[in-house]
Amino acid sequence: MRLLVCGGAGFIGSTFARQRLREHGDQVTVLDKLTYAGREENLHDLARDPSFRFLRGAVEDRQAVAEAIDAAAPEAIVNFAAETHVDRSIAEPDAFVSTHALGTYVLLEAARERELRYVQVSTDEVYGSIDEGTFTEQSPLAPSSPYSATKAGADLLVQSYFHTYGLPAVICRGSNNYGPYQYPEKLIPLMILNALHGDSLPVYGDGMQVRNWIHCTDFAAAIGHVLAHGQPGEVYNAGGPDEEANMTVVRRIVQLTGAAETQIEHVADRPGHDVRYSLSSQKVRALGWSPKVRFSDGLEQTVAWYRDNAWWWEPIRSGEYRAYYERQYGRSLHP
Ligand code: NAD
Ligand code: DAU
Repeated sequence: MRLLVCGGAGFIGSTFARQRLREHGDQVTVLDKLTYAGREENLHDLARDPSFRFLRGAVEDRQAVAEAIDAAAPEAIVNFAAETHVDRSIAEPDAFVSTHALGTYVLLEAARERELRYVQVSTDEVYGSIDEGTFTEQSPLAPSSPYSATKAGADLLVQSYFHTYGLPAVICRGSNNYGPYQYPEKLIPLMILNALHGDSLPVYGDGMQVRNWIHCTDFAAAIGHVLAHGQPGEVYNAGGPDEEANMTVVRRIVQLTGAAETQIEHVADRPGHDVRYSLSSQKVRALGWSPKVRFSDGLEQTVAWYRDNAWWWEPIRSGEYRAYYERQYGRSLHP
């Protein structure tokens, strides 16, 4: 297929682009604004592939989107483009509103004009927190943060384009991803890099919050299944095989990196912190997908990847991320 992958220079979008080129022989055009989280380095191994093209541009920019569509002549748009960090959405929600609301709208209009298939990449956070049991696609939307609320708004807009205009749009909602190329503001890469550098490991509150971990290659494959086999108008959840409390994850990272347990430090809790996420994936499993990577194996491989790929994270840890870390955690990182 010819695909326009928006937000494809980020963590999961680049994983998806790699998978589609390598495993499916697709032609992939990435359109990405290159925010702090978007990096061409994430696509370094694809840059010379004749079936790959990178274009810099924002999804809320109609002209950039029109030019990308002219260049790519896509059969489908897959939209990963988003602001993705909950803590940043609490501190500064502006970009979350414009990218998720306006950006999604511009892409939907472009898809409608040209009758393109459309896949919206979304998150389990739109359902809010669940103490027991698991969310299905029928669960009500109850987002808690500016991040998840604007993602839920984008999902509703996508569904309105199916109901009103018959746009062949599908939504795929994933649980917490981890793996190579994840920006180190997120729990797992943050803890790995801090552990390796002798920095403290900042656990929010009591650390008993539970997340449903999915390896990024499994989520990318689920999105591919939904792209190929999903019914227009439908939502598909893709949850990982394992749920873990944050403290368990951090202790395991301490073991895998050879850091000291004394580096773990409980810090002020995140405002409105969701206690637990859990997703049922029956519907996407019925399309033939299942997750391949168990969390214990995937975490070990992820620690090894960060240990071996300082070329990727060194420029991040010496740049904007240091200032962000000081604002968010009130302390500096070791050089
Ligand atoms: P990321 O932050 O690593 O990447 C986001 C990408 O979007 C970056 O390359 C960034 O430059 C680009 N982008 C941001 N605003 C843009 C704009 N206005 N126009 C064009 N490009 C823009 O995020 P990720 O973790 O790879 O997440 C990708 C998608 O998957 C998001 O929609 C997110 O909501 C969803 N998701 C993420 C997770 C997770 O655990 N990371 C889980 C479920 C769903
Ligand atoms: O569930 C899917 C979502 O997962 C995605 O939609 C989001 O884009 C992604 O950022 C992620 O959201 P979370 O808020 O769950 O991920 P984060 O890595 O920020 O935090 C995971 C858990 O770890 C959460 O309970 C907060 C906690 N945490 C996080 C950080 C950064 C800490 O205890 N300390 C930290 O320093």
